[in-house]
Amino acid sequence: MRKVGVRLGSNSYEIQIGSGLLAQTGQQLKRIGFGDKLVIVTDPTVKSLYGNTLKQSLTGEGFKVAILLVPEGEAQKSLETAGRLYQELTDFYAERTTPILALGGGVIGDLAGFVAATYMRGVPLIQMPTTLLAQGDSSIGGKVAVNHGQLKNKIGTFYHPKLTISDINTLKTLSPREFNDGLAEIIKHGAILDGEFFSYLEDNLDKIKSLDAQVLERVVSRSAEIKAGVVEKDELDLGLRNILNCGHTVGHAIESVSGLKIWHGEAVAIGMLVEAKISNKMGILDRDELVRLKSVIKGANLPTEIPDLEVAKIIQAMKHDKKILQGKLRFALPKSIGDVFITDEVSPSLIEQVLSDWNEES
Ligand SMILES: NC(=O)c1ccc[n+]([C@@H]2O[C@H](COP(=O)([O-])OP(=O)(O)OC[C@H]3O[C@@H](n4cnc5c(N)ncnc54)[C@H](O)[C@@H]3O)[C@@H](O)[C@H]2O)c1
Repeated sequence: MRKVGVRLGSNSYEIQIGSGLLAQTGQQLKRIGFGDKLVIVTDPTVKSLYGNTLKQSLTGEGFKVAILLVPEGEAQKSLETAGRLYQELTDFYAERTTPILALGGGVIGDLAGFVAATYMRGVPLIQMPTTLLAQGDSSIGGKVAVNHGQLKNKIGTFYHPKLTISDINTLKTLSPREFNDGLAEIIKHGAILDGEFFSYLEDNLDKIKSLDAQVLERVVSRSAEIKAGVVEKDELDLGLRNILNCGHTVGHAIESVSGLKIWHGEAVAIGMLVEAKISNKMGILDRDELVRLKSVIKGANLPTEIPDLEVAKIIQAMKHDKKILQGKLRFALPKSIGDVFITDEVSPSLIEQVLSDWNEES
């Protein structure tokens, strides 16, 4: 098992990454001392795969356990679902000391995290991410939220878990598309902040795709460590965290113009490439490094082309994005592999040119 410490003063906690950790959770929580009852929030797919293992581990140590089920999908990140969970927590007589275990992907992590932050002004949260996106990225950083109508993550707060347990065995049941989608943010972490890690990803792509446990443990833990390092310096997302948006200015626009047919990680992968090309055209990123980035993204079976590309719509969508500052688009562009810079000086004509030429050149 690997451990990553997240140092945030009184909010500090540990992320544990390893194989078979779900079955040891009961012992672990008993040792830490978490009262006598616990609540698991999860969805039906994850419950059917991992609910029993986790529940048995907890009841085996004498915990009284309630499983609160949330249907799958982004639409469940709502105040309505949160309201239902508050009621179910009340029905279970959950107290301020009753921990909530968020077992699932990013949707469950964000929703259960939001409920944990607000029920009785905050109860202990334990993140138990089961997708690659959640293990390597979304469960780290304390952002918990629900959507408000079409407005994503509009109602939320920062709330860190007491502990995060990432059992990498759970990654075995992800669909290949879901797995690859999560890989995009991990590649991003290497591309913007750690050239050595990026090389490791280049060298080990086949082992990653064949779910080699040792390699996955290292990949998930280094990705978590990189994100934690940024969060430690900018806990409340007031500046530095912007670098994590590499690929997202273009990526979010592609995701939304596609009507969500292109998934988030897929869109970020294309976005990273478009933004790397912009950086290259600005004379900053070397062509060789752009080629390396593209080759890793392709090797991870992530898309490099934009289907049904409509440049005008993508540019329009970018203008509605939150990364716009005083009328200028803000980008986190790769400077070299392992380095990144923030700029709002990318000319609209360059963005248009790179996008217009995209599918022919890519
Ligand atoms: N808080 C943050 O900082 C942050 C960052 C990035 C993304 N997010 C959020 O994350 C969410 C997306 O998360 P996601 O990609 O994990 O999707 P998800 O949570 O919707 O999970 C995707 C699907 O995978 C299934 N699943 C989960 N674990 C599985 C497993 N081990 N085996 C088989 N199936 C499994 C789920 O049932 C679900 O159907 C979005 O709501 C996004 O806003 C949050």
